Amino acid sequence: MSFQKFKPQIQAILDHKENSVDERLLDLCKLLKAEIPYYNWVGFYFRNGDKEELKLGPYAGEPTDHTIIPFGKGICGQVAVSNQNFVVPDVKAQDNYIACSIHVKAEIVVPLFVNGENIGQIDIDSNTPDPFSAEDERFLEWVNEQVAKIL
Ligand code: SME
Repeated sequence: MSFQKFKPQIQAILDHKENSVDERLLDLCKLLKAEIPYYNWVGFYFRNGDKEELKLGPYAGEPTDHTIIPFGKGICGQVAVSNQNFVVPDVKAQDNYIACSIHVKAEIVVPLFVNGENIGQIDIDSNTPDPFSAEDERFLEWVNEQVAKIL
């Protein structure tokens, strides 16, 4: 997958100041889901105020029941605590995993930092087994760096 070609489009979406931040993030989620065949659900979770929990932000894909995730729970909750990328090639092999859909085979979660603080994350579910590489990690780190500039 050549991620490079998406960068100008992503920058244009995020720079579109007539739209609210949530509208821009939604457009970003929709773009990633539409353009990358193995990105089947793309969404943002953000820390919910001062609480030790994540709250679902803009997303593209099937609605999920998991709009609030306590820190430490599931892949997302673990990333809120670890500050590290979490690549899951096979969700069935994870004990601490929150299933959103029976179709999901793999997941990647990359933390989003503002001024060095982990304030949320991008979460991607895939219906393809083991689809994510280091290239996805570098790309999503770049995406989050761009998002951080508009928050
Ligand atoms: N699977 C995630 C929950 C969020 S959904 O993928 C949208 C987890 O284990 O944290």
